[in-house]
Amino acid sequence: MAEVVIVASKQEGGAIVADEIVRLIRMREDAVLGLATGSTPLPVYEALRERIGELDVSRVRGFALDEYVGLDPSHPESYHSVIAREVVEPLGLEPARIHVPDGREAGIATAGEEYERAIRDAGGVDLQILGIGTDGHIGFNEPGSSFASRTRVKTLTAQTREDNARFFADASEVPRHCITQGLGTILEARHLVLLAFGQEKADAVAGALEGPVTAMVPGSAVQLHPHVTVVVDEAAASRLRLADYYRASWEGKPDWQGL
Ligand code: PGA
Repeated sequence: MAEVVIVASKQEGGAIVADEIVRLIRMREDAVLGLATGSTPLPVYEALRERIGELDVSRVRGFALDEYVGLDPSHPESYHSVIAREVVEPLGLEPARIHVPDGREAGIATAGEEYERAIRDAGGVDLQILGIGTDGHIGFNEPGSSFASRTRVKTLTAQTREDNARFFADASEVPRHCITQGLGTILEARHLVLLAFGQEKADAVAGALEGPVTAMVPGSAVQLHPHVTVVVDEAAASRLRLADYYRASWEGKPDWQGL
């Protein structure tokens, strides 16, 4: 089962995940990180920035989960721009080693396959950071997505477009389509780290971790993975039936185990 860590704050959650990423890069300078966008992973990137110090990150590689289709990469809300601004620049990563799916319409028919090939050529993702949507999506795999899906174009749900409208001047500017790693792609990462903060994520978290494994809750795919860490605050954990068990497991965990 997933290891569920219930934290007092986003900052504490970010620190726990950043420590693990540092440990990974120390072991493997060219570690492959799976990068997520949105508000949730920001405390991880902030904590990572504080910890990088002397660490050589010039060989670290990265793959973003998804991108909007039809937004120019230079648009400030394209995930190309977001990943550059929030991850690559502050952490001093090598831009050529960090990949984001190509959402430009010109090459969209083959962009998914090319992205899959690039991930494969890198030897796969070591640690995949994940947020979860209020509708249960991971990446942009909306409800109904196949657990066998690979990187492809998807139509965003009305709920996701509404949730993301805060990043755009007007809700109608939120693209209707995206290109996202599939659930099958995500499940091949060696370690999944899913974060969620706030009451609005409580149902999605409970459904993903403790509900049935179903395409209707794409986040429930994590139940099929052998190495999953979930970092949630009290509000996002508030609907978890096994919360006390998760707390006891975390408190009693030996230091040598790592995440
Ligand atoms: P958020 O988005 O981190 O901005 O809440 C999460 C997601 O949609 O996966």
